[in-house]
Amino acid sequence: MTTRKKPTDLRSHRWYGVDTLRAFGHRSRTLQIGFTREEFAGKPVIALVNTWSDINPCHTHLRQRAEEVKRGIWQAGGFPVEIPALTLSEMFQKPTTMMYRNLLAMETEEILRSYPADGCVLLGGCDKTVPALLMGAISMDLPTIFMPAGPMLRGNWRGKTLGSGSDVWKYHTELRAGNITQQDWDEIEGGIARSFGTCMTFGTASTMACIAEVLGLILPGGATIPSPDSNHVRLATLSGKRIVEMVWEDLKPSDILSRASFENAIRVMMAGGGSTNAVIHIVALARRAGIDISLADFDRISRTTPVTLNLRPSGQYLMEDLFYAGGSEAFFSSLGDLLQGDVMTCTGRTLGENIANAPIHLPDVIRPLTEPLEKEGGVAILYGNLAPGGAVIKTSAATPGLLTHTGPAVVFDDYNELERRLDDPDLVVDENSVLVLRSAGPQGGPGMPEWGMLPLPKKLLERGVRDMLRISDARMSGTSYGTVVLHISPESFVGGPLALVREGDLITLDVPGRKLQLEVSDEELAERRAAWQAPARKYGRGYGELYAQHVEQAEHGCDFDFLARDGRTADPEIH
Ligand code: FES
Repeated sequence: MTTRKKPTDLRSHRWYGVDTLRAFGHRSRTLQIGFTREEFAGKPVIALVNTWSDINPCHTHLRQRAEEVKRGIWQAGGFPVEIPALTLSEMFQKPTTMMYRNLLAMETEEILRSYPADGCVLLGGCDKTVPALLMGAISMDLPTIFMPAGPMLRGNWRGKTLGSGSDVWKYHTELRAGNITQQDWDEIEGGIARSFGTCMTFGTASTMACIAEVLGLILPGGATIPSPDSNHVRLATLSGKRIVEMVWEDLKPSDILSRASFENAIRVMMAGGGSTNAVIHIVALARRAGIDISLADFDRISRTTPVTLNLRPSGQYLMEDLFYAGGSEAFFSSLGDLLQGDVMTCTGRTLGENIANAPIHLPDVIRPLTEPLEKEGGVAILYGNLAPGGAVIKTSAATPGLLTHTGPAVVFDDYNELERRLDDPDLVVDENSVLVLRSAGPQGGPGMPEWGMLPLPKKLLERGVRDMLRISDARMSGTSYGTVVLHISPESFVGGPLALVREGDLITLDVPGRKLQLEVSDEELAERRAAWQAPARKYGRGYGELYAQHVEQAEHGCDFDFLARDGRTADPEIH
């Protein structure tokens, strides 16, 4: 039987409930805001960490959703306190939101620690926001519910369904190849994002929302409700109600997260053909929880997980279709014994209890295990002399014929050089070449920008080429596709073997053998290494310098070395 907390057990009691000069100040200043004593005395204080911002179209509705969360908190007898936090707006923030993921994680943890929070509801959804908020909350280990922003509605252009990201890349390629007009392109611009909410392909945002739900940190079904749907409003209120109960039950992330729940997270990512970014985020989240998850776990689980979600970029449909098909509960339930159902969730029940017998309404969207899109999971982990620390390829979005390939390298030292040279008619390149980009890793980018799906040379596009092997230490958007090797580690900027590749070197990709090999002798590579000079860091001060000094390599989750561990920092003294 669970023991319930008493009001005097609440963390906030130290701020509000004691007879001290400081507590007088806390109470009088809360009265100053306009609350009565009855509204806050002895109540669980719930922090709403809200990443709403005018610059974030994925979070436009979160100001209103916060009010709906508060409604639930008031109804359940809690005291809601909304606290704004850094917004990570994927489309706007430069050089990349990934660089600021760790900053929001730190901010979340410190907000929760420094204020009188007994529990929290995290409001966000755009790509890096999900791991950032959760990393901070896991480190703080207060009762936590994640309130996802939800996917936007399907895009539309002249009756064609458009998917975020995926169709941008597709139609931009056709524009460069001369197959659509500038007017077509302008119309697509106005039709591809029709409502607030996150990208509605199974990109990073939706992958991470499903991961957060299967980890037990979102109420059942919450990850896949479209943002404008009234179910989404109700999810907000129910999240507010439930978090108050979680505080009384003292149900914290450390009671919910386990090795089994992280293995479930990897399983869901693989079955969905989900974003490669999730590899980095899952490792980072697990390390915050003190659970050892490595790239080997991803490869092992990938080999035994069919891709069953028929969503772009791996498949055909969009998140709105998944919702009508039964949503995340039906998706998880369809995986049967591949998921470990006996893990705890924020409902106070197990995952298995939450999803038991969830019906599938559209079996072409959530395919049965016996009729998958791919027999094996969507992501493979590669090693070899080019990637001693590992590299990642999304096989479900690649061209099958390129998964075993050897070709000569065409090397770009950084993204600026790529933009300068790519369409040069004199560039020596054909469809068998391997495009190589460096200086795009955690330190080199910095922040591993989503440059990994390198554009193809125009002269090859005009000849009808639509995919080539491309390799880098960058990430790629969860909505991207193609035969793209990412996250090569160690990165070139710190002297990883990618830094030693020269124009014309042969590179071999062997996905069945899980190999990425530079066909150059060890002796030659040793000579090149001896001559290699480390580039200068890009930031000399501020957060950029902190980032460069402490960010870890991709296979370790790109967290800061001083944060990637469990063990909660002590609460502050209240003086
Ligand atoms: Fe926010 Fe894609 S831009 S989720």
